[in-house]
Amino acid sequence: MTARIEWVASSCRLLSAISTEFETTQPFAGLTIGTGIHLEPKTAALIATLAKGGAAIVATGNLNTTQQETVDYLRDRGIDVIGGPTSDPVEHDRDLWQVLDDRPDLILDNGGDLFARFLERPYEGLLGGTEETTSGRTRLAPLREKLGMPVLVINDSPIKQFAENRHAVGQSVLESYLRITNRSTQGKRVVVFGYGACGQGVAANFRNTFGLVTVIETDPVKRLEACLDGFDVSDRDAALRRADVVITVTGARSVLTADDLPLLRDDVVLMNAGHFPLEIDVPAMLGHTDVERVTDATEGLQTLHTRDGRRLHLATGGHMANLAGPRPLGNSIESMDLGFALQARCLEAIARGRVSADAIVVPVPRLIDEAVASAYLELVAN
Ligand SMILES: NC(=O)c1ccc[n+]([C@@H]2O[C@H](COP(=O)([O-])OP(=O)(O)OC[C@H]3O[C@@H](n4cnc5c(N)ncnc54)[C@H](O)[C@@H]3O)[C@@H](O)[C@H]2O)c1
Repeated sequence: MTARIEWVASSCRLLSAISTEFETTQPFAGLTIGTGIHLEPKTAALIATLAKGGAAIVATGNLNTTQQETVDYLRDRGIDVIGGPTSDPVEHDRDLWQVLDDRPDLILDNGGDLFARFLERPYEGLLGGTEETTSGRTRLAPLREKLGMPVLVINDSPIKQFAENRHAVGQSVLESYLRITNRSTQGKRVVVFGYGACGQGVAANFRNTFGLVTVIETDPVKRLEACLDGFDVSDRDAALRRADVVITVTGARSVLTADDLPLLRDDVVLMNAGHFPLEIDVPAMLGHTDVERVTDATEGLQTLHTRDGRRLHLATGGHMANLAGPRPLGNSIESMDLGFALQARCLEAIARGRVSADAIVVPVPRLIDEAVASAYLELVAN
């Protein structure tokens, strides 16, 4: 595992360059950064970069995603990691509070967990920080007035939108389909629910590997976009009746339900790539009277056998297929390197006092987007 963490770190070329610079410039000298983000190889590279910049780090992970090997790796390198892998919300809550007990000067948040708790028990000296996700932005936006300090939302950078959500999610969902099912895409009828940044990437990647892709969208403007991008946007139920593969990536609940079971044809593969495992109503499907029994098809794939003899294959229990199942790798290292370069530069700007106090829960400043884009283009050119 250490080899994989080292491989990821050495492939994060932007973070490596920033680390080298930070060793000299020391933007975080004397400051503590509290983090509440997935502890896995890519975030380890980010945390190591911040430590190179002189920060004392106090880190904990998110629910369900902490990798013990990464925790061990960081602890071996002097990072204060609170807790370990857990799916227990009470234990996780305790770990988050323990991070705040150190009264960090900067917060790197994922989902708003640390900032929301900070507001319950504020302390002097917090300079501000970053929030990685959409869900964190949604949670923290109504708290702007109470926060009253710079909080920059990485998700809302155009770079994160196209590099990660569109290109990387699209590619890793395709990779996960291939790895889990070992089936082809050519000539397969693929139905993608949702045409946001992620759905656009998923639809494009399956089309690029010669799938026949239909997009189902509730928003007529997005549906028009999918249509003009050359995707079939015809009737939902008709598309489900002929689908070989169905992928949900909407962020919404119950996109595919037990009511859809009669529509699905024999041998269809069902996958979710949206954040929560609620897009395919798995409990209702498993408990439906039409489902006679459920068997394990192969690792990461269950088969629902219907009474009329159809086999419906469900990937990774309806959890994000590119982050669950056998050997999940998640999004490409390069896409995360770009997002984490934004993280490092945003935290640096706040530490240096270069972000105004009224930049509360706002997108990454344009100058930082431009600097990160230019740095990546330079690496590509040389
Ligand atoms: N798997 C990953 O690695 C990964 C990475 C980033 C984001 N995500 C998740 O993927 C999901 C989508 O992200 P996004 O950035 O594309 O979001 P988005 O909000 O840009 O797009 C979602 C789209 O789904 C559409 N939609 C909503 N309900 C629908 C329904 N019932 N049927 C059809 N379309 C529907 C919306 O109109 C919208 O256009 C989110 O849950 C996000 O957290 C996953």
